[in-house]
Amino acid sequence: MLIKTNDMFRMNNFCFIIKSMLKKYGLILVLQFLVCFKSYSNNGYRLWLQYSYIENEQIRSNYQSTIKRIIPLGDSETINVGLKELELGLNGMLGSGFLADTENMVANSLMFGSRTSLNEDIIRQLGNAFNEINNEGFIIKTILIKGKNHIVITGKTDVGVLYGVYNFLQLLQTNKSIEKLNIIDSPKLKIRVLNHWDNLDRTVERGYAGSSIWDWHRLPDYIDQRYIDYARANASIGINGTVLNNVNANALILAPKYLEKVEALATVFRPYGIKVYLTARFSAPIEIGGLETADPYDPEVIKWWSDKTKEIYNRIPDFGGFLVKANSEGQPGPQNYDRNHVDGANMLAGALEPFGGIVMWRAFVYSEHDTTDRAKQAFSEFVPYDGQFKDNVLIQVKNGAIDFQPREPFHPMFGAMPKTPLMMEFQITQEYLGFSTHSIFLPKLFEEVLKADTYREGKGSTVAKDIDGSLHNKKLTGIAGVSNIGNAINWTGNTMLQANWYGFGRLAWNPYLTSEEIAEEWLRLTFSNNDNFVKPVKNMMLNSREAVVNYMTPLGLHHIMDTGHHYGPGPWVSNLSRPEWNPVYYHKADSLGIGFDRTPTGSHATAQYAPEVASRFNNIETCPEEYLLWFHHVPWDYKLKNGETLWDGMALKYQEGVNEVAAMINTWEDMEPYVDEERFNEVKMLLHIQYKEAKWWRDACLLYFQQFSGKELPQGVEKPTKTLDYFQSLKFPFAPGN
Ligand code: GCU
Repeated sequence: MLIKTNDMFRMNNFCFIIKSMLKKYGLILVLQFLVCFKSYSNNGYRLWLQYSYIENEQIRSNYQSTIKRIIPLGDSETINVGLKELELGLNGMLGSGFLADTENMVANSLMFGSRTSLNEDIIRQLGNAFNEINNEGFIIKTILIKGKNHIVITGKTDVGVLYGVYNFLQLLQTNKSIEKLNIIDSPKLKIRVLNHWDNLDRTVERGYAGSSIWDWHRLPDYIDQRYIDYARANASIGINGTVLNNVNANALILAPKYLEKVEALATVFRPYGIKVYLTARFSAPIEIGGLETADPYDPEVIKWWSDKTKEIYNRIPDFGGFLVKANSEGQPGPQNYDRNHVDGANMLAGALEPFGGIVMWRAFVYSEHDTTDRAKQAFSEFVPYDGQFKDNVLIQVKNGAIDFQPREPFHPMFGAMPKTPLMMEFQITQEYLGFSTHSIFLPKLFEEVLKADTYREGKGSTVAKDIDGSLHNKKLTGIAGVSNIGNAINWTGNTMLQANWYGFGRLAWNPYLTSEEIAEEWLRLTFSNNDNFVKPVKNMMLNSREAVVNYMTPLGLHHIMDTGHHYGPGPWVSNLSRPEWNPVYYHKADSLGIGFDRTPTGSHATAQYAPEVASRFNNIETCPEEYLLWFHHVPWDYKLKNGETLWDGMALKYQEGVNEVAAMINTWEDMEPYVDEERFNEVKMLLHIQYKEAKWWRDACLLYFQQFSGKELPQGVEKPTKTLDYFQSLKFPFAPGN
């Protein structure tokens, strides 16, 4: 099922080679060859659904004796998908022989189906469990029938059962015990979506893993196996929606010739519990509807959207809804007609309401006509509207107030709109974190934001509690991740970054998981259960986020990347048409110091936080050092907590970042015995590029800032081998994603 054409070609050759070898060398030598081959070939396409043969005989035979039969209860498309996955997974991990058998129940059967398919006896044995799960939750339990043990995987819906199936397979993949099972789990957020910034010409905005996986040319008749594997991967981590196209939207996606293609994708995804959403270009009524205006108060515009929505639901009865970027970075929106965000969002929400669809209205706005600190603009524009949006509107807020920087303090909107569902927007693709070249484990960043305390309802009012609805008892909840997926053979352009897709899904399911748990799970699923591998690589992943902060933007620096493509350092850039696009706007380096004063003496952006948080950020003594230059303009001689001056401390942080990447390389080199050659070499080569680029960031930034500090580099910081002029002259016409 997961075999792609080029794999198929390899397989044919492979079978031929094995047959000839068997004739020539006999079984033992061929088995030895197979062990070597296994560690040689893995292109990463299978992601975390590797289902590798379990080499440990004891563990394998234990599983084999606990699962004798697979018994699907029901035959919906979703149950059939679950069955195929179980067959694939169990045959892969335990050896062949697992096929469904609904007739013969023997001891140790694995049954799966929703509540309605279970008999009274099983339901009784499940006790209260059904009351503890929501519609997408699942139960995995060992039960007794006529004195014999069986395992049942169930839920209120077939999709819940499917999530249970994936969870069960993951238990085996990670070599966990499947004796006396009693697992009850439900997602904590309702909307768990990927946002693809994919254009209709198959380029991907900020995409670094090849072209878009949506082959608009060959859809709807050609269903690429990738669509199915994409759905499997998402369902396996609980992602239940996908926005197919870029937030910088093209209205054409709403035209019939595209909708029939969207419908084909929705049909593929449906059995996996994945809904399709589209971005709605606000001016679509003009561009494809032939109207003169897109004013949300105009009756013809209202009717156009309502007809368009009906047309979509006729094709796709479970269509999820619209994602909208309006009046932001040149995109059209209600403000073009002197209306506001509420007018725009509610108009679309009205069209979707009869069908149960939702609007995800983005809060990523900043205006060229507003000269106040860009970090303040979204809060000022949205918070006054709290309570005015329709019930099927969520406001989608980026994790920080600027734009997906290596580190930002949490967005002040979180916690500040008690009557409006806010959904989190994380960026999984690494626009500002080294593209797909740098191996950075993002759940560490996500976790930091989710755990941040807004103090809006006193201590413990974390961002996670706002987005899961528990802080203000919100019913509609959600999270979005800007996808890092493309048609690269390994999906993400770097095997290590599959962990960020995986980790996003896991945190969407449960925003209280730790990044450490996620790293451990992912490594075991994707590579190996060998502790000699898992422990060091887990540490490497957990340190990788701090490394990138250190070599790019230590101590609260931000937005100092090069222009347009955002590849590499560009703290000197000062000539862009809008002030807030220029790095110099953000670092404000001068002979006195560096940093953006956002306290009451500066832009006073801190006033947008709860008083407890604001006062901590305002006071340079209590402001966490990782946000120092985000909130303060700090003299070069300012003494950091460790006694170093700001200049020395900053330079040493840059060096630390470089050293950390060197340590990552060392760790990875030691892992050669545990990883197949293909993935080992790929990660190794990319780490070496990351190392080179970490030094580039360090040298370029320090040479540039040194002009203002006028100070020597401290001991321990390597001297740059190139000049500032050299760094400033670099051009990257080939940088992807722009
Ligand atoms: C960033 C990014 C853009 C993107 C925008 C957004 O500014 O560089 O490519 O369109 O965010 O989130 O809308």
